[in-house]
Amino acid sequence: MKAASIFIAASLAGVGYSQPAKQKNSTIYNPILPGFNPDPSCVFVKEWDNTFFCATSTFLAFPGIPIYASKDLQNFRLIGHAFNRPEQLPAFGNITGQQQGWYAPTLRYHNKRFWIINSCVGAATGYWSTPDPYRNDAWTNVTPTEIPGYDPDLFWDADGTVYSAFAKTVQTDPFTTEIHQVNISMPSGNTTIDRFLWNGTAVQPPEGPHMMLKDDYHYLLLAEGGTAQAHQVTIGRGKSAQGPFEADPANPILTAYNTTEYFQTVGHADLFQDAAGNWWGVALSTRSGPEYETWPMGRETVLYPAKWEEGQWPVLGGPVKGKMQGPLPPPNRNIHGSGAFIKDPDYYKFSPGSPVPSHFSYWRFPKTDNYVVSPRGHPNTLRLFPGRANLTGDAAFIPTDGITFIGRRQTDTLFTYSVDINYTPSVFGEESGVTLFLTQNYHADLGIVRLNKTGNYLRFRAEGPNAPKQTVVSVSQKWCEQGMTLQIQAYNTTHFSFSAGPKGGPIKQVATVPATLVSNGFTGSFVGVYATNNGNALGKTPSYISNWVYQGQGQYIGDGEFYPSNGQRS
Ligand SMILES: *[C@@H]1O[C@H](CO)[C@@H](O)[C@H](O)[C@H]1NC(C)=O
Ligand SMILES: *[C@@H]1O[C@H](CO)[C@@H](O)[C@H](O)[C@H]1NC(C)=O
Ligand SMILES: *[C@@H]1O[C@H](CO)[C@@H](O)[C@H](O)[C@H]1NC(C)=O
Ligand SMILES: *[C@@H]1O[C@H](CO)[C@@H](O)[C@H](O)[C@H]1NC(C)=O
Ligand SMILES: *[C@@H]1O[C@H](CO)[C@@H](O)[C@H](O)[C@H]1NC(C)=O
Ligand SMILES: *[C@@H]1O[C@H](CO)[C@@H](O)[C@H](O)[C@H]1NC(C)=O
Ligand SMILES: *[C@@H]1O[C@H](CO)[C@@H](O)[C@H](O)[C@H]1NC(C)=O
Ligand SMILES: *[C@@H]1O[C@H](CO)[C@@H](O)[C@H](O)[C@H]1NC(C)=O
Ligand SMILES: *[C@@H]1O[C@H](CO)[C@@H](O)[C@H](O)[C@H]1NC(C)=O
Repeated sequence: MKAASIFIAASLAGVGYSQPAKQKNSTIYNPILPGFNPDPSCVFVKEWDNTFFCATSTFLAFPGIPIYASKDLQNFRLIGHAFNRPEQLPAFGNITGQQQGWYAPTLRYHNKRFWIINSCVGAATGYWSTPDPYRNDAWTNVTPTEIPGYDPDLFWDADGTVYSAFAKTVQTDPFTTEIHQVNISMPSGNTTIDRFLWNGTAVQPPEGPHMMLKDDYHYLLLAEGGTAQAHQVTIGRGKSAQGPFEADPANPILTAYNTTEYFQTVGHADLFQDAAGNWWGVALSTRSGPEYETWPMGRETVLYPAKWEEGQWPVLGGPVKGKMQGPLPPPNRNIHGSGAFIKDPDYYKFSPGSPVPSHFSYWRFPKTDNYVVSPRGHPNTLRLFPGRANLTGDAAFIPTDGITFIGRRQTDTLFTYSVDINYTPSVFGEESGVTLFLTQNYHADLGIVRLNKTGNYLRFRAEGPNAPKQTVVSVSQKWCEQGMTLQIQAYNTTHFSFSAGPKGGPIKQVATVPATLVSNGFTGSFVGVYATNNGNALGKTPSYISNWVYQGQGQYIGDGEFYPSNGQRS
């Protein structure tokens, strides 16, 4: 049978079928945007050299809303951030809640501009745009809009009307929503009073709407069931953008609910077409298995093939897996820009004149003076000045105090992250080191700390329910002066280790933590460095970070199977 079908496919190709040449299937490796990259929204833009662009949620991480570009749907380069400077929305810097900030963006291309609309929970909802997604400074400031809800969509109808559908909270316990809609007038951002649009399929809460016009139908793609195990993709359609909508009898059209798939929580989809006319979908997913206990990378972006025949409902090619088949465009890493490819390792020396890599993140707006590459007298280092508050913060902490933290996403199931640190704290409370950071409420830190008169110690301390007890080990003055290597490793799929030693010398494990510590909420883990004086205003000693290395050592995709990380040395 297999041979026969290959023969038929080959003979159709041979007679020069008028359809676009049938592309061969190749292997889709999921996630396409590994690590903390939830709520993907993607467009394919022919005018920009046949490139796919995707945006994802960032909550309190800054810069916010990364824009990733790809020509083959497998290699995605970070080309910039839609939210990259405080002037765009100053109120972001004052958000208190660790689960607030930039929720699900909608990315669209219209009238030669790229547009984002998004809710910054705790601050404002608004839209903004750029004529050039490769230039951070070309993004406008946020135009605030009166949208009484979250997950706003942006849709230009055939008559030019701009609509935004969004999720409006009806009640909080249990949490229920309805999809509502406003018209937006541009450029003022004024909106009409919102109206009810659709309830979806009554699997509460409907969210994440995206409207699409195809073959005279207005389609409304939704996320239902909430972002955990019951997450699902549903769709409805109607003749008008204002509804009413009938539900696809095949709903949910994609979900991992009630399955044993390793890729769970599949939902919050977006759909787009490639240059050859193939349809594709993205969604968020957590690599957790149905147990849904260990998922330190949070909600990641996955890809799956789709079919959408004229006048028909779209058919999404699930279940989502770590290896799938589909007619991918040919491999192509020729993407403009200098940002990192999301799956690539880090080897940073912080050499003089080099920028802070664009995929490094802060938590809220950074105090930029606290992070200086190769300051005078200290070439090839990143100098950190301590924040008053530590990564947790105390009762007196206000968001604009800032924390001194800079990290990169955990993008591989297994990885080794290490830095060298030159740091001799001299004032009680001073501390600097490496952290596995989810939010200010969930992190694990290994730092050099001045504990008392006797001197400096290595301290492992974690924050979060069931956090392991702290570990304190003395370090010699000589080690501080000559520098130390600090390391975090995901040594298996469920545990991280924290190790230290003299710079370049042998390192020793100080502590381990289960990844469940950082499997929580809407965000995903970072690994990075921090500095604080733990509230002692006298503590101003800088720490100097060098030789920043992050190397993936395998992507786990379930059933005992891994595929290699990019650049992995075997
Ligand atoms: C943020 O908080 C700071 C300090 O409390 C205050 O000065 C500033 O006005 C606030 N900014 C906004 C945009 O709310
Ligand atoms: C929204 O725009 C549509 C299409 O132009 C129009 O029919 C409708 O009346 C508008 N809604 C409101 C509330 O103005
Ligand atoms: C937008 O709304 C404001 C406040 O209601 C009003 O003053 C302004 O004229 C409106 N702008 C447009 C272009 O409708
Ligand atoms: C939508 O759901 C709400 C409950 O959230 C319900 O009160 C309302 O009647 C529903 N509307 C329609 C048109 O089904
Ligand atoms: C999953 O199982 C629950 C409980 O049996 C059921 O209510 C729900 O409809 C199922 N959903 C899907 C998408 O399989
Ligand atoms: C290509 O993969 C799709 C699933 O995405 C499958 O339905 C189809 O049969 C495959 N085609 C070939 C020629 O293998
Ligand atoms: C430092 O962290 C500890 C524990 O996480 C916390 O109790 C304390 O308040 C924090 N101190 C400051 C100054 O942020
Ligand atoms: C300093 O702290 C360490 C670690 O907690 C402890 O072992 C040591 O006794 C302390 N020294 C003084 C002088 O308090
Ligand atoms: C990872 O290692 C820890 C011990 O450090 C062990 O308890 C755990 O079961 C291991 N996880 C797996 C999936 O093997």
